[in-house]
Amino acid sequence: MLTHLLTLSRFAALSLVAVPVAPLIGAAPGKFVIVGMGTAPDLMTIRAQRVIASADILMAEEGNIRTMWPELAAGKVVWEWPHNLRKYYGADPERLTDPARRAEAAKVEQIRHGLVGKIATAVKSGKTVACLQSGDPMMYGMTLFLEMLPAEVPTQIVPGIGAFQAASAALKRSPPYGYDTNAVILTMDDWDGRVDKNELLMRAGSTMVFYTMNLDYPRLFGQLKQHYPPGTPVAVVIDAGDPARERVVRGTVGRFLSEVDHRALPVNRHMLFVGKFLNSGQARKDFTPRITER
Ligand SMILES: C[S@@+](CC[C@H](N)C(=O)[O-])C[C@H]1O[C@@H](n2cnc3c(N)ncnc32)[C@H](O)[C@@H]1O
Repeated sequence: MLTHLLTLSRFAALSLVAVPVAPLIGAAPGKFVIVGMGTAPDLMTIRAQRVIASADILMAEEGNIRTMWPELAAGKVVWEWPHNLRKYYGADPERLTDPARRAEAAKVEQIRHGLVGKIATAVKSGKTVACLQSGDPMMYGMTLFLEMLPAEVPTQIVPGIGAFQAASAALKRSPPYGYDTNAVILTMDDWDGRVDKNELLMRAGSTMVFYTMNLDYPRLFGQLKQHYPPGTPVAVVIDAGDPARERVVRGTVGRFLSEVDHRALPVNRHMLFVGKFLNSGQARKDFTPRITER
């Protein structure tokens, strides 16, 4: 028994030496966790709930905690970042010639560095910082923290049910089943500087799924008409995953613009799906011969 106790106390001493930054004996070390919150409160994972319950600090884009997850913030410190946090990320402010843009870029960069510095200090002092993001953080989410934090800061990502998964479920058809295509292209509008332009992506006729941030519908449908037959089905899913508000609006490539008032669609709360999968379902042109003919 005595030997046992001695071994244990030696182990405790070793642990103290090996983990000098731990704030208290036995306390869990801090970490930075990006948490995918799903597209609706009841689409949060159990892992997300556990991480948030154990977090000391919650972070999110400004207004999101108050509007979407207020009850989770009780008793926690809350940090918010401005909507434009990712603007000019990766650009060198010194190379911007317009003084107003240069000043804005420098200001946002300062905010990013300030925030990342706060995260690193909190984590090093043993705190867990949970960064809440709607849907799945790895789809057009705010992941730059992972690139900016020093490598020694422990990080984790809790995946969430994103708009793509929730909207596919609303459609009750699986996007990769395109009858004679297998691929799904997840994309958005052509913003300045992109080389994988949508017209290039359309050439193979794969299923296309658009995250609709500022989507230019007339331009996009002009392009779709060049590459997809006019009868190709189209669907818009609004408020995917929200049991009370979810809605599906259907059309075709040829008639969508005349039949659907795209200007009335709620900004940032809808996704656009284009492809044969909407009608063909799981039917395959090839009927998977390598499996069925053996
Ligand atoms: C910046 S992206 C973030 C997506 C998020 N990370 C996700 O995985 O759901 C925002 C876009 O996702 C889509 N979106 C987000 N939530 C949605 C929802 N509940 N229903 C439909 N589309 C949604 C919209 O196209 C919106 O413009």
